[in-house]
Amino acid sequence: MKQSLSNYQCPDCQADLYYNDLGKVSCRGADECSFDVKDDVIFFEKQENNYNDYSISAAAEVHDNSLDWLLKTHNTTEDEFRQDILHLLKLEAGQKILVTGVGAGNDLPYICEAIGENGEIFAQDIAEPMLLAAVDRSQNKFKLQKYKINFSLSDAVKLPYKDETFDVVYHFGGINLYSDLKKGIEEMDRVTKNKGRVVFGDEGLADWLANTEIGKMLAVNNPLYSYKPPLSALPETARAVQLNWTINNCYYLISFNSFKAPLDINLDLKHKGKRGGTIRSRFYGVLEGIDPKLKEELYRQAEAQGLSRADFIERLLEGGLKEVKEK
Ligand SMILES: C[S@@+](CC[C@H](N)C(=O)[O-])C[C@H]1O[C@@H](n2cnc3c(N)ncnc32)[C@H](O)[C@@H]1O
Ligand SMILES: [Zn+2]
Repeated sequence: MKQSLSNYQCPDCQADLYYNDLGKVSCRGADECSFDVKDDVIFFEKQENNYNDYSISAAAEVHDNSLDWLLKTHNTTEDEFRQDILHLLKLEAGQKILVTGVGAGNDLPYICEAIGENGEIFAQDIAEPMLLAAVDRSQNKFKLQKYKINFSLSDAVKLPYKDETFDVVYHFGGINLYSDLKKGIEEMDRVTKNKGRVVFGDEGLADWLANTEIGKMLAVNNPLYSYKPPLSALPETARAVQLNWTINNCYYLISFNSFKAPLDINLDLKHKGKRGGTIRSRFYGVLEGIDPKLKEELYRQAEAQGLSRADFIERLLEGGLKEVKEK
């Protein structure tokens, strides 16, 4: 059965999508963009097979091996590590979840179990061998046929989903190397419903570990451990932000609630003190340098008149301007 396109949009021009007569997906935008579909996977991107480390054939097995080595090094198991992240997602039955950079799909069984048959997963990756391994594993290894999972080959910094579509958006393991990390976070935030949760993580040693002997050894082995959790790249509206660490504090996990309304800060409330002005006027209303003696005299006069400095200077300037215009 074809996956529904109602949650998708064209990643290039944001127009709605439909299945055309050739069995491809087309967009209703002026450019009439067209995308291949094969075995119910929509191919929004086309890459050379050396696009990234995950575009080589057998990428999923290579990834399995390195993950296996990594988890053994850290004396943990894949089950323990996936469960550790899963509880941050706070999934509920029936939710609609997006997994970006899904890789070979090893998180999918956990997510399916948490959201149940009434839930729905959208999973994307930019590397074809990884995505096709996820499609294959979801059927043959994990036997997830009874769950709704929609796969697309697409770019996490240009997601093919409509605004405010998902209850939870989750990514693990690729974001440090996105071509545009800030855009990748913006995209996760855009497609999350108002008050929905975004959770993502990748390599990055906790600050208290980075300069220890063991931290330095780890970072020499894998330079990605030197990455820092990109908190400054979160949207300004992010709320309930949490920073957690997993796998011996070598991987950061950032979680936040997506809010669509701007921050509720009154930038125009007048200060009560003698300087006066507002947050906005103190930022945008700074004037050219004037004679310091004149400035002192203005301050004295403002105080004598019982006005804030800002109110007094504004009045003088308004009066002066009026005079100039009337001349
Ligand atoms: C280390 S693997 C992790 C896979 C999976 N999330 C997991 O936990 O097993 C990183 C994945 O991110 C994918 N990736 C990297 N850049 C991407 C992008 N711009 N868009 C989508 N996927 C991306 C890679 O192709 C790869 O499959
Ligand atoms: Zn288009």
